[in-house]
Parts: sequence; structure tokens; C-alpha cells
Amino acid sequence: MARFWRPGSEKPDSSSSYPSAARDDDYSEGVPFAMPSSYQSGYMSIEKQRQSLPIYKQQNSLLYLVENTSTTIVIGETGSGKTTQIPQYLVKAGWADGNQLIACTQPRRIAVQTVAARVAEEMHVNLGLEVGYSIRFEEISTPGVTKIKYLTDGVLIREMMEDPLLTKYSVIMVDEAHERSVSTDMLLGLLKKIQRRRPELRLIIASATIQATSIAAFFDNSKQRQLVDKDKSLPSRKPAILSVEGRSHTVLIHYVEEPVDDYLRAAVSTTLLIHKMEPSGDILVFLTGQDDVDAALQLISDEAENGSEGIFVLPLYAGLPRSDQELVFSPAPRGKRKIIVSTNIAETSVTLEGIVYVVDTGFSKQRFYNPIADVEALVVAPISRASAQQRAGRAGRVRPGKCFRLYTEDFFMHEMQAEAVPEVRRSSLVSTILQLKALGIDNIMRFDWLASPPAETMVRALELLYAIGVLDSDAKLTSPLGLQIAELPLEPMVAKMLLASAALGCSNEVLTISASLSVQSIWVSGKGRLKEFDEARERFAAAEGDLITYLNVYEAFLASKKSAQWCHQNCINFQAMKQVLDIRAQLSRLLQRLGIPLKSSGKEIQAIQKAVASGFFVNASQLEVSAEGDLYKTVRGGLKISIHPSSVLFRATPKWVVFKSVMLTDRHYMREVTAIDPAWLTEIAPHFFQCRK
Ligand code: CDP
Ligand code: MG
Repeated sequence: MARFWRPGSEKPDSSSSYPSAARDDDYSEGVPFAMPSSYQSGYMSIEKQRQSLPIYKQQNSLLYLVENTSTTIVIGETGSGKTTQIPQYLVKAGWADGNQLIACTQPRRIAVQTVAARVAEEMHVNLGLEVGYSIRFEEISTPGVTKIKYLTDGVLIREMMEDPLLTKYSVIMVDEAHERSVSTDMLLGLLKKIQRRRPELRLIIASATIQATSIAAFFDNSKQRQLVDKDKSLPSRKPAILSVEGRSHTVLIHYVEEPVDDYLRAAVSTTLLIHKMEPSGDILVFLTGQDDVDAALQLISDEAENGSEGIFVLPLYAGLPRSDQELVFSPAPRGKRKIIVSTNIAETSVTLEGIVYVVDTGFSKQRFYNPIADVEALVVAPISRASAQQRAGRAGRVRPGKCFRLYTEDFFMHEMQAEAVPEVRRSSLVSTILQLKALGIDNIMRFDWLASPPAETMVRALELLYAIGVLDSDAKLTSPLGLQIAELPLEPMVAKMLLASAALGCSNEVLTISASLSVQSIWVSGKGRLKEFDEARERFAAAEGDLITYLNVYEAFLASKKSAQWCHQNCINFQAMKQVLDIRAQLSRLLQRLGIPLKSSGKEIQAIQKAVASGFFVNASQLEVSAEGDLYKTVRGGLKISIHPSSVLFRATPKWVVFKSVMLTDRHYMREVTAIDPAWLTEIAPHFFQCRK
């Protein structure tokens, strides 16, 4: 059990590190608490709720700025109403009266879906009519009717391929800009370019933290003299900044005295202790990924059976099915305390009502790119101080709250970075550069970034795109392969695999694999059914690897007549399988449009393996038996890497493999692994492998 400094103990609590934290524990047990506002939604009408949001008072200032300046930067704490209210104000002010509409982008799909649903409810319309949304493989909107469209930044970038100046939109709001995801940063660069050609386009950039000055400087076009400036009807080209006053309550911070060994167990025991000791109020627990979340859920439920009654535990992560998303946002059953166990989605992307306690493990899953070994891995790493403050802030929405940090104060002060490094500086840029190329941006080295990525990363990405045949030696998209890969809404290497499968006569099978790779996970992980899960996976396991296993699962799913019960019995995520069906159908239409025939290889697995190798040959790795055990070495960067225990090839250790992704914990692990014959490599990519022999 993690031990915390308690207020009143000798060591002073350093709540000063959190700006609005109180020092006194001013609401002890026995004080009657107001019910969190969501519990009262029956009493407070939606209209009242809207009017009580901090942004409401700024409505006129906001509309004035949008009218008179090209770029308005809005800063306001999470929950102040930026995402849900601003687009509605714009509609009311007439910005969607013509045949143009308002776009609002989010870095996360789940935020797009939940926010669009909420706004449709506030406007008393059915989702997909006046309010719609669009995420990859899912467009819920009605042309001519939809006035507000929520979409991921990635989808808006894709829309530029058909409509380079985004003429459909009168106002584009780029939300959650503080997250600095690769696609947000890329979108900001592209929108700056569009603004030069469309000076009447209005941009709103919304952020939960105050790093607005760099964004304002980036969008400051006021010094550029252009003829259009003479047109007095155009808005000012100097960005304006609007700060929305927060209204959050104080949050008391507790740190552990000593570093904890196992943040997951510490999070669970702390949560249960809060439930036992603290008065009513929901608890939000920050963990790193779906696997963590599921494991914690299981541990909490086990405990609950042993006597912790009165709790209602829910998960929150990116791939959560729609029905479970609704539960997270609705009040707990009467008399129960809601405990939400989340990844860092709940940090700023979605607003949860009723949270009074936050348990912060101090970690999140982050992308990390190593240009020397040329691998991008997912790593569980410490968050920044800015993130820690955001997480703590989630406790102060309805009344004063408490945040329990499972790291020491010393760690917070001296080890955590002040702010996270923007994602473009720690990601592989292969997809990004392909998209820039597809948008006709030839000199990508000179693309205007808010924070420029390392030149080395860009060079590596160009090399890779050249190796897979997407770019020619002049760094232009090749025809037809490069153009086709850019057209498909898939990661470049997956797209390459799919296109290669046509010539190998197995596009029908590889289509299924590509669709399966496009959903979060087809498995229902852990949840205390580990043994059951392993047995289920064993039933579908293919000796050729994880991608062929997906194919087996899909075929068995069809044979079960798409049965939900069958999925449950086999630890397979039914929602994910329905998505696979849907994505598969969409990809099949795209292939048809590109004139690529669907062919089936039947039982001929080797053709499929070859197609996989054609996509992922740059990730080819060779087994090296050493004292440390079975390790592989990547051909590209010479990195030592193991097969992840979740792979069906974990125990088989074939001599040569290709992998799709990498996870870094105590060592590098490859995931989604396929066995290959090395003889294919020189056949598939002679230029790439000859020089590496
Ligand atoms: O974007 P920002 O964080 O500033 O706030 P918002 O997401 O627009 O949230 C404003 C209000 O809408 C909050 O009181 C939320 O609780 C509520 N909301 C909700 O009830 N359900 C959602 N799915 C999203 C927001
Ligand atoms: Mg928001």
C-alpha cells in the first residue's frame, strides 16, 4: 500500500506546486455535500447547464473576435465549454447559414464520438443531421444538412486530398492544441498555408493550457503585405487571444513518501482506501493503456467481492465500445460510487462530471522514435508536470477535491519535465511525409511546422518511403503505387501489403488482415480470464504468425454466423469484429475504385506471407541464439529485439520474421509478427537488401 503524507503531518504538503490547490483540508467527513451536478441532471435543464459554463459569458467577445480576426486562440480549462459550446454559438451567429459548415477537430476518435453525441443532444437533433462526425472509416453526417462536424485532425487532413482549400468550411476549430499530436501540428501548418489563399477562412485554436503565444506568433500574418489587405471586408490577420476564466475548485495534492514498486497495485489499493476513508464523490484513476485498465478493473472487482461494496467500476480507453462509453458519462446507480479507470484520455479530451478524487500513477503510454535504430516504439514513461497538473485539475470540477500522486514530491519537482516534447519530435514521420507529398507539398524539408521535427527523422522517413517504392529518386510519388498507397486510409506499410497481395493472388485474404489491423484489438484482453484467453487464442493460432491468425479468427467468426455469443466464448471482441466487417467492405470498395481485383488464394498461406513481407520487409529480423536467450536482430537498424509474449509466435521463434509494431518495456518487443522465408526479401526489395548483405 502506498503511504501518503497527510495534511497536518510534519512534512508540509506541497500543494503550492498546483496553482489552485488549497492547503487546508476544509471539507472533512460529516459535512453535507452537494450532489455532483450530473446527478442532478433531472433538475437542471440542459439549457441551464449550458448557461452555467464559463464560456457562456464570453460568447459575444468570442463572436466579435471570430468576425474580425482570421485566427482566434481560445484558452480555457477543461470543462469550460470550449468544445461543446463554441460550434453552437457559431451556428447561432450564422456561420453555417450558407452551404458551408463548421469543423471542430479532436486528436482522439473517442472524443469526436462522445462530443458529437452530446452536442446533438443539446441541440435536440438526431446525431448525423445538424451535428455529425467523421473518424477514419466512419462518417456520420448528411451533406446539405450538417452544420457542425466533429472530426479527427487526421480525417480533416485527408479531406484536403479532395478539397485542398477546405472550401466546405467557413470556420475550422482546432481543438486540444496543447496536446501537440503529430496530426494537430501538421494540420496547423497546412491551415496556415490555406489561410494565405483563403483570407476569409476563420480559424479557432483551442487549448487547455497557456502556451498560446507561440501559436499566436505562428499564425501572425499581419506583417506580410499582400494585395488582399486592401480589402476592408477581410478580417485582421493578427491573431487574437481569448482567455476563458476557469471556475474549478481547489484540489489538495498528496504525494507518496517513497517511490512505489508497482504503480498498478498501488493505484488499486489507493482507490480502495479512498473509497473506504473518504466521503462520497467519484474517483478517476489514470493508468497507461487498455491492458493496465483491464487488469486494474479485475483487481478492484476481486476486492469488491471481498467486501468493498457500493462501487461501480468502469473502464475508459480509446477502443471502448459505444455502449460502454455512455456508461462512463452517465451517473452511477443510486448510492454507488463511480470509479473510472482510464488511460490519459480523461486528462483533457473528455469531461467527466462528478469526479472528486484523482489517483495519478504519473505514467502514460508515449511514442518514442529512435532514429539510429530507426524504430518507433510505445513506451510507458513519466508524464510531464503540465500533464500532472491537468490530471489533478479533474478532481476540482464539482467541489474541492483531492489528487493522490503515486510518485514522490521530489520526483514531481526534479524528474518530471515541465512540458511534454511535441509528438513530431519523438515519432516516425513516414505517414506524415507521405501525406504531405500526397497534398502536393514537394519541399517537405521546408514545411512550416510549429516545432520542426529533427531533419534526421525526415531523412529516415524519405528513405523508407523510397525503399517501399512510394517515392522515386526525385522524392516524387510513384505512379501508380505511390499514388495508390496515398489514397488508401491505411498506414503506408499496410497499404503496401494490401496492394502487393493483388499480384500474389491473395487480396481477398489480405483485405481481411488489413481491416483487422485497423481496429484497436480483436481480442477481449485479460480481465481475469487469462487462462481462458490463452486457450482461445491457441484455437486460432497459425504457425505463420499473428496476421494469419487474424484471418483464422475472421473465418471462424463468419462460420459462427457473426455470433456475439461465439465471440464471448472465444475471448473475441464482438464490436471489433463488426468493425472489421465494415472496414473490410469499405476497403474493398476502394480497391475496386483503384481497379484492383479481389482474388482468393484459398489454402495457399505462403502467398499471404509473401504479401505481408512485401509490406513490412523493412522490419525483417533474424533470430540470433545467444546466451541471453532467443533474440532477433533487425536488418534495418541492427536492434536487438524479442517477440512479445502476446504473439502466437512467442514460443515458436522462427528464424526470420517481419513485425508491425514495437513496444519498449524492459527491452524491445515486436508485436504482430509473421514468419517469412529470407529468400523472399531479395526478391521483393533487391535494392533494399543487396546493400545490407
Ligand atoms: O472543451 P471543454 O473541456 O472546455 O468543455 P466541454 O467538453 O465543452 O464540456 C462542457 C460541459 O459539457 C461540461 O460540463 C461537460 O460535463 C458537459 N459534457 C457532457 O456532459 N457530456 C459530454 N460527452 C461532453 C461534455
Ligand atoms: Mg474540449
